[in-house]
Amino acid sequence: MIDWVRVLPKASLHLHLEGSVEPDTIRELQPSLGAEEIAAGTSFSDFSGFLKAYVWVNKLLRTPDDYALITRRLLERLTLENVRYAEVTLSAGMTLWKEQKFATIFEAVQHEASRSAVDVRWILDAVRQFGAAHVAEVADLAIERAGQGVVAIGIGGDEERGPASWFGDIYRRCKDAGLHLHAHAGETAGPESVWQALSIGAERIGHGIRSIEDPELVEELRRRRIPLEICITSNVRTGAVALLDAHPVRRLYDAGVPLVLDTDDPALFECTLSGEYDLAARQFGFTREELEELARNSFEFAFGVGG
Ligand code: ADE
Ligand code: ZN
Repeated sequence: MIDWVRVLPKASLHLHLEGSVEPDTIRELQPSLGAEEIAAGTSFSDFSGFLKAYVWVNKLLRTPDDYALITRRLLERLTLENVRYAEVTLSAGMTLWKEQKFATIFEAVQHEASRSAVDVRWILDAVRQFGAAHVAEVADLAIERAGQGVVAIGIGGDEERGPASWFGDIYRRCKDAGLHLHAHAGETAGPESVWQALSIGAERIGHGIRSIEDPELVEELRRRRIPLEICITSNVRTGAVALLDAHPVRRLYDAGVPLVLDTDDPALFECTLSGEYDLAARQFGFTREELEELARNSFEFAFGVGG
């Protein structure tokens, strides 16, 4: 690990709370679970297996205190890496699916955030393949909390089974309420998925790596300064890229697309934000100046003020 990367002030813009739960914290949540059961629950070898592991972790989160604990543990780790600002994605969609009361969960995570040195904002994320009625419910939760810690709505899950075009009206309603608009796109589906995310107003794209397949789209992202949130280890571990070497991060950067680096689900992918910067340097030849630019981008493209 390059020493200066760890101390470089960074913002984290693509980070799922529920994907940040380390095995030690899982044991704190449910002491009866053995190491083998935890390994089995969190193992995967492709994208659909990853989504199952993500759901497995979500099911362990039963009470507002559970959410508080995982927030505390995440923010402790971010502080050690000099992450000053974080837009953490909270899967409001999964809490609805679990029929939990979102209000008390949100109060609990906000309370933890207020005790941390990290300046935290929240992106409330819906499960896109659950459809428009579900995303509309998440939108209501986000709109109620706009300006009170929530900065954006997002869609995650399976982009093949939940195209962004389903959610145009809902995204317009969120925008009118003062929220920013986020979408995962171009992670497992092709450029058309990114075009759709742009067409419903997405201002940042989670992953977007398959944009590289469409020169017009690359030009659009560059011209409009729409950043892609690049999570290299995530893409390797889910199989979104076939091989580390095949990752388009360098080509996207060289084409002038604004980029930030992030971890996505650091516990499930066994990575850290500093490690992702280090990987970009080692594997893709990013220089210190270039990495410093990516760190500046992480503040510049924050949705919240204070970022
Ligand atoms: N939810 C958490 N991580 C995700 C990812 N990488 N893609 C889609 N949805 C997610
Ligand atoms: Zn993500």
